[in-house]
Amino acid sequence: MDHTLGIIKPNSVASGHTGKILSLLEESGFSLEAIRLVQLSRADAENFYAVHRERPFYQSLVNFMTSGSVVPMVLQGENAVQKFRQVIGDTDPNQAEEGTVRKLYGESKERNTIHGSDSDENARIEIEFFFPGFFGST
Ligand code: RTP
Ligand code: MG
Repeated sequence: MDHTLGIIKPNSVASGHTGKILSLLEESGFSLEAIRLVQLSRADAENFYAVHRERPFYQSLVNFMTSGSVVPMVLQGENAVQKFRQVIGDTDPNQAEEGTVRKLYGESKERNTIHGSDSDENARIEIEFFFPGFFGST
């Protein structure tokens, strides 16, 4: 699969970093296939992050992800999932490499600017979550 899902998180949308992040992603070779501006409900955020529901940071993460608008998007490129995670950098901005999105714009491990799918299987599920019908009947 050559698609992945990215989400610009509320802190970066509110800070006006959306345009710069999109530029960086496009300069990295991704093409934008779909994009929205969305206010997640609590139920949406809980569902999206259900795999983390036993983790200590879960409620805080759900609070954060519902604190303002987010920008989910579908990016296309060769080996998209893996390459996107390289471009966004480590979960913790302090550990992320120079030039990565999280190093440039992340505020903390939680407020780390951007989400990226972690496998082809999850990319497909996450793309369908925000863009129902994206893959048609295939
Ligand atoms: P993402 O899913 O957002 O692309 O991030 P990731 O794979 O790098 O990190 P993951 O382990 O899936 O965690 C999901 C999000 O939860 C928040 N988090 N907070 N306070 C903490 O220790 C902590 N750990 C994770 C981050 O917002 C992370 O992106
Ligand atoms: Mg993850």
